Amino acid sequence: MSSHSDDLPDRVLSMHEQAVREMEEPKDGSTATPVAFLLMCFFFTAWGGYYIADNPGNWSGQEYNERPAHTAFSGPPAPTDPMLLGKEVFSACTQCHQLDGKGVAGTYPPLVGSEYVTGDERRLAAILMNGINGPLVVNGNTYSSEMPNWRSYFKDEELAAVMTYVRNTWGNNAAPVSKEIVAKVRAELAANSTTWTAETLAAFTKGESK
Ligand code: HEC
Repeated sequence: MSSHSDDLPDRVLSMHEQAVREMEEPKDGSTATPVAFLLMCFFFTAWGGYYIADNPGNWSGQEYNERPAHTAFSGPPAPTDPMLLGKEVFSACTQCHQLDGKGVAGTYPPLVGSEYVTGDERRLAAILMNGINGPLVVNGNTYSSEMPNWRSYFKDEELAAVMTYVRNTWGNNAAPVSKEIVAKVRAELAANSTTWTAETLAAFTKGESK
């Protein structure tokens, strides 16, 4: 009995010898990170970078709003089309010169085919700046009414636009008028707002031609 129990440790050891021999040696220290995991990290980092670069959203918090405030970022507004602005301003003229620009026989002269409209732009600007009165021959007919001046009603840009509009509507075809020309004529006539007659207008046009 006693001998049997005495050799118990030996027997236990020999019983496990085989298992101990076949078990892997325990390792010390750290294991290298698996390459597959590194590749995965690299892939997701690269994908994230690519995604951000591809969808930068203007680097702005506004970009994906439901109603983006694009006006704040879209630069200066598009310049107004002078023909559109001119048509708007022209509503101040239709009462006399009519929508079709033909005027009213014997009272209001036509703008269609008028040398005053399609000719010298400086003279046209002067007419609108001071108004005109008295006998005036337009397309062979003499008119003798008065047109008020428009200098205080419209800005340079608006007068330039209505001039461009009447010069290029109803078959009229003449160069557009810049607001710089209107500004120049306005400055020239700053101290002279006397309504033109055919004679004073002719003198102004000749006297200081361009
Ligand atoms: C209240 C009526 C009236 C209005 C409004 C009016 N005009 Fe006139 N316009 C006249 C009259 C009348 C004459 C001719 C004046 C004369 O007999 O000396 C004239 C002459 C002219 C002329 C030179 C003659 C010709 O027919 O080419 C031009 C150009 C002209 N107007 C453009 C305009 C423009 C552009 C507007 C609008 C901004 C305008 N007028 C608004 C009454 C008007």
